[in-house]
Amino acid sequence: MFTRVPRQSLTLTATFARCTLRAGRHLCFDGPLLTTCVLIGRLSRKPRSDWRRRGENSRTIMPAWVIDKYGSNDVLRFTRNAGFPVINYPNEVIVKVLSAGLNPLDVSMRDGYGAAALSMKRDPLNIKQSGSEFPLVLGRDASGVIMECGLDVKHFRERDEVWAAIPPWKQGSLAEFVVLSANEVSHKPKSLSHVEAAAVPYVATTAWSALVNTGGLNKDNCAKKRVLILGGSGGVGTFAIQMLKAWGAHVTVTCSQNAERFVRDLGADHVVDYTAGPVEEPLSSLEKFDLILDNVGGDTERWALNLLKPWCGAKFVTLITPFLQNIDSLGIADGMMQSAATGATKMLKHLVKGVHYRWGFFAPSGPALDEIREMVDAGQIRAVVEETFSFSQVPQAFEKMEKGHARGKTVVQISKGGEDL
Ligand SMILES: NC(=O)c1ccc[n+]([C@@H]2O[C@H](COP(=O)([O-])OP(=O)(O)OC[C@H]3O[C@@H](n4cnc5c(N)ncnc54)[C@H](OP(=O)(O)O)[C@@H]3O)[C@@H](O)[C@H]2O)c1
Repeated sequence: MFTRVPRQSLTLTATFARCTLRAGRHLCFDGPLLTTCVLIGRLSRKPRSDWRRRGENSRTIMPAWVIDKYGSNDVLRFTRNAGFPVINYPNEVIVKVLSAGLNPLDVSMRDGYGAAALSMKRDPLNIKQSGSEFPLVLGRDASGVIMECGLDVKHFRERDEVWAAIPPWKQGSLAEFVVLSANEVSHKPKSLSHVEAAAVPYVATTAWSALVNTGGLNKDNCAKKRVLILGGSGGVGTFAIQMLKAWGAHVTVTCSQNAERFVRDLGADHVVDYTAGPVEEPLSSLEKFDLILDNVGGDTERWALNLLKPWCGAKFVTLITPFLQNIDSLGIADGMMQSAATGATKMLKHLVKGVHYRWGFFAPSGPALDEIREMVDAGQIRAVVEETFSFSQVPQAFEKMEKGHARGKTVVQISKGGEDL
């Protein structure tokens, strides 16, 4: 049955086969490549689960909201024929999505933001045709149940209830099933429903990456720190306030006046209304800060770094970066060069004034979600769901996201679970 293939070409064939599997082209080949594709698919997953024995293994399609091109809300299309996810690597799991969270990134991705950079990440060898990302499933947060595990997955079993933040280059959670790396998945907090759990992972892992990995804060060093959050009433802000308060920091927040009560309820110590006039004036009369988390961008960099304590290791971490936009407009090589030059120039410019300038990025992380789960189950952090939509209302959920002025998160309930789990 097997043709002998030299070891080196087998490795190359396997690598190419993985790329091809990812490209969804595995049916177009025969010979060693097809054999390798089939073997990887078969060998990467554990022997048939209950779920598969019940006949689900015959499924090749599933319901999902997809886009077939970038554009405004009318590009969203519901289909019952989206491709069923496949375990391609032994550390992957298939999750049945019960609830999906939306983020501003979903609206931007629908419009085409980041398309060039994300295509490069999906297809580093550039072997696919342009537009091969379609039909594209949006949705970066998932809460659901594991249906199948790859061979190397030790930490999870079928039927485990999990939550995850999905990297933007992967198919998203506005679908009945999603395939994820086990490193991106974490057991869901027991104290949250799936709707509540879907409101947390993306903003939580972004805040964690910005505040902990980039900002250097943690539960042991926050007690006397003064932190300013620019834009505290949205998804990232509402999570960051609670996490910093749980760690004992003093938290000042900017938001519009009608969100003051809301952010104070989450623990904010001091609130400044940005709609009442230039916000830098009231902020500059306050004691200086150890860290600023910028969720707003625009002209904040012009004045906000002056609010940091100089020569004390204080940091300004902004989530509004030109990284993906540069790649979209200049191409990969020039875009990355431009971003590196911009970032380095800004870092140096502020370093000579004794403060640190940093870009913060979302980073998918199951281990970070494990720590966040403990804080949630300990009652230190609650999920802030602003509005819930049904699976048939995904376009309305996007319309709501586009209006801005979020007070927490928008969640889509994909399924209530039940007898099929
Ligand atoms: N770099 C990354 O990897 C990364 C990851 C996640 C998010 N982000 C970005 O970070 C930003 C925040 O994300 P999010 O999920 O928290 O967004 P969001 O849920 O839409 O919240 C943004 C909040 O900012 C407030 N706001 C707007 N303009 C403001 C201003 N001038 N001053 C103070 N508050 C202002 C708005 O409330 P009002 O009603 O008070 O205006 C809104 O609630 C977004 O731009 C997002 O794209 C970047």
